[in-house]
Amino acid sequence: MKKVSIIYWSEYGNVELLATSIAKGAKDAGAAVVLKRVQEATVEDVTSADAVAFGSPSMDNNKVEQTEMEPFLKEFKLLPSNNKPTVLFGSFGWDDGAFMVNFKNIMSDYNFNVIGDVTVKETPNELELKKAEELGALLAK
Ligand SMILES: Cc1cc2nc3c(=O)[nH]c(=O)nc-3n(C[C@H](O)[C@H](O)[C@H](O)COP(=O)(O)O)c2cc1C
Repeated sequence: MKKVSIIYWSEYGNVELLATSIAKGAKDAGAAVVLKRVQEATVEDVTSADAVAFGSPSMDNNKVEQTEMEPFLKEFKLLPSNNKPTVLFGSFGWDDGAFMVNFKNIMSDYNFNVIGDVTVKETPNELELKKAEELGALLAK
């Protein structure tokens, strides 16, 4: 059974909705899923997983959330992430997804294999939640 860890930061719940849909897709496809806010996540949640998903809103001038999410991700800069299949997800208010370009570059630099992403404006709609679910299923493969 594949282990999929989904780790996210969310204040108002938009990113959390995407996280929940990714988790559902991965579970329905047979994976063992760890779903955690970054505040509760550990490095081992990532290193022990076969595949991972990271989520954040666009914050602080179109960046990944800077006080908790970014420092957590930075821990992997010097750790082997073995090209793990990775999905990135997030929500923005006005940047039209520019933060996701930066997010993808950072995670590729840290040697994660980004196989998909979903980026939404504020609250995800049904179609976007479906896409998140499909990405969860992809991580379970
Ligand atoms: C303090 C704060 C800073 C934000 N900064 C940005 C920003 O720089 N660029 C942007 O496009 N949206 C920005 N937003 C909008 C959020 O990215 C957007 O509302 C997102 O859906 C919030 O996700 P959440 O509901 O999971 O917390 C900001 C929101 C807040 C509250």
